[in-house]
Amino acid sequence: MVLKRKHLQLILCIALISSIFAEDEKKSELKNVQVLSYTKKAEIMKFMKKSVTKELGVKCNYCHNIKDYASDEKEQKIVSREMMRMVKHINTTTMKPLGLHEVSCWVCHQGKKHPDHKC
Ligand code: HEC
Ligand code: HEC
Repeated sequence: MVLKRKHLQLILCIALISSIFAEDEKKSELKNVQVLSYTKKAEIMKFMKKSVTKELGVKCNYCHNIKDYASDEKEQKIVSREMMRMVKHINTTTMKPLGLHEVSCWVCHQGKKHPDHKC
């Protein structure tokens, strides 16, 4: 009886560990994503195509070395990551608690690289 229980514990333990590794495998589809919550390449590509490029009026190569999307060699990508962090912060701390519509790059950039500073 005691032995069976030990076996069961061992099996549960193995199941837990392998599920953790399975989770890691899912995440490893993307190499250098620190702010956005995507884990799949197809999903992040869709977001980049449908939102980010249009919101700033640019192409992928504005932020990326298109031979290596995970590389951080372009200054625009570094700035964009901080902008994404800012947008996420505004949405979680201000917009959601107020029950208001989420902020996006478009709210400021409106299809331009440099938003207007004055009215
Ligand atoms: C305005 C800047 C910007 C533009 C334009 C842009 N991206 Fe990105 N992209 C980023 C940033 C920033 C990240 C990292 C996000 C993070 O760290 O959460 C990223 C991450 C990615 C990744 C994940 C790479 C990895 O494995 O780490 C892929 C793939 C990608 N972009 C594809 C594209 C494609 C395809 C386009 C054009 C349709 C595009 N991006 C346009 C800023 C941009
Ligand atoms: C609250 C307004 C606001 C939001 C939201 C915003 N930005 Fe910006 N962004 C700015 C301002 C202001 C500048 C500075 C422009 C300047 O100096 O002329 C800037 C500059 C940038 C630059 C640098 C351009 C350069 O020449 O170096 C990038 C890249 C950028 N933003 C990307 C993004 C992305 C991607 C998002 C969405 C995740 C975003 N921004 C959301 C206001 C915003």
